[in-house]
Amino acid sequence: MGGYTLIENAPLVSRNTLRVPVKVKLLAEIRDAAKLPELLDFPAIRSSRMLVLGEGSNILLTVDIDGTVLAMETRGVHMEQDGDIAHIAVAAGERWDDFVRWTLGQGLAGLENLILIPGTVGAAPIQNIGAYGTEVAEFIESVEAWDRIERRVVTLDRRACAFAYRDSIFKHEPDRFIVTAVRFALPRQHALRLDYAGIREELERMGVDKPAPFHVAEAVVHLRTRKLPDPAVIGNAGSFFKNPIVDAAQGEALKHDHPELVAWPGKDGRWKLSAAWLIESAGFKGARDGDAGISNRHALVLVNHGKASGQELWRFAQQVIDGVQSRFGVRLEPEPMVIGMT
Ligand code: FAD
Ligand code: EPU
Repeated sequence: MGGYTLIENAPLVSRNTLRVPVKVKLLAEIRDAAKLPELLDFPAIRSSRMLVLGEGSNILLTVDIDGTVLAMETRGVHMEQDGDIAHIAVAAGERWDDFVRWTLGQGLAGLENLILIPGTVGAAPIQNIGAYGTEVAEFIESVEAWDRIERRVVTLDRRACAFAYRDSIFKHEPDRFIVTAVRFALPRQHALRLDYAGIREELERMGVDKPAPFHVAEAVVHLRTRKLPDPAVIGNAGSFFKNPIVDAAQGEALKHDHPELVAWPGKDGRWKLSAAWLIESAGFKGARDGDAGISNRHALVLVNHGKASGQELWRFAQQVIDGVQSRFGVRLEPEPMVIGMT
C-alpha cells in the first residue's frame, strides 16, 4: 500500500554488513519507483540530507544520520529478446546475486564471474562491481535514475556513466542520482573469462574440461566461499581498500625493492598493486584493536569482531592506511563510502 513506508528513529544495524549500530532520523523504504517524486517532496525529506541504501554491503556508517535514508526495495525484471542478445531492465532493489542466477537459468552469459557479490542491482553501477576478470560496466546498456538536481527521471548510457575500476559518475555526484533501474544487454554466447588466478584450477578440480557459464559461476562460488569471510558470520564490507594504481616508474621501483610484490601491469602502462599483499606484508593480516580488525582470511577485508563502532572501524582502517604508506609509500583508499568522517 502506498508504495513506501516511513519509520522514525530507525536502527540501521541490520541494514549494513559491517553491523555498525547507528540510527537514522527517518527511514523511507520505497517499493514503487513511481512514488519517488511524491516521497521526495515531503517537507521533512526535502529539507534534509539523504543517503540511498541498498543492502549496506559497501558502506561504513560512523555517525547517527540526522536526515533520511532511502532504502531501495523496488522489484521487477523485464526481458526483451533481440536475436542473440537479451535486453533486460531490472529494478534497483532486486538482489544482485538472485539476478545473476536468474540470467544463468535463462541461458544467458556474461555475469557468471560476478556471482555471489552481495547487494542490490541498483548499487552495481555505483562502483562498477567487478570480480574474477569481469566488470559489470561491460554488460550495462544504460542506467535509469532520478536526478535530484533536474528533478526528473534521466537515462545515462554507458559512456555517460564514466565507468572505471571501482568508479563511476555516481561516486563523484553522490547527492545527485537515485538509481531506479539498470538495463543490461546479455549475449547467449560469449568467450568465457577463465584467466583470473584460480578459475582454471577450480574447473579442473570440478572435472570440467568444456566449461559453460554455469560451471564458471560454480567455480567462482567455490573460490569466493573459500577466500572471503561471510558477513552473516563476521561483519565486513568485502574489500575495504581499492587496489592502488600507480605509474610505471613507481610500480617498477616497488617491484625492484620487493620482488615478491603482487602487481598487474595495465594496458595504459600503469600498474595495479595488490592492496592485500601490501597490507599483509605491512603486518596487518589478522590484526585487531578491540573489535575492529583485519580478517585473518583476506587482508583486504576490514572486520567487526562484535561491537566495534563505525568510528573505531574507521580509526583502525586509518592505522592500516598509515602503516602501508610508511612501509611502501603507497596511500590506500577506502572502497566503500565512509559516511560521517569525510
Ligand atoms: P550499499 O552498500 O547499500 O550502497 C553502496 C553505495 O551505493 C552507497 O554509497 C549508496 O549510497 C549507493 N547506492 C546504493 N544503491 C543506490 C541507488 N539505487 N542509487 C544511488 N546510489 C545507491 N564488490 C565488488 O565490486 N566485487 C566483489 O567481489 C565484492 N565482494 C564483496 C564481498 C562481500 C562479502 C561483501 C560484504 C561486499 C562485497 N563487495 C564487492 C561490495 C558490495 O557487494 C558491492 O559494492 C555492492 O554493489 C553493494 O550493494 P549494496 O546494495 O549493498 O549497496
Ligand atoms: N593476497 C595476499 N594476502 C591476502 C589475500 C590476497 O597477499 O590475504 C594476494 C594474493 O597474492 C592474491 C592476490 O592478493 O593472489 C589477489 O587476491 P584476490 O584474488 O583475492 O583479489 P583482490 O585483488 O584481493 C579483488 C577485488 C575483490 C574481488 C577479487 C576477485 C578489489 C579491491 N577487490 O580482490 O572485490 O572479489 O579481486 O576478482 O578490487 C570487493 O570489491 O569488495 C571485492 C571483494
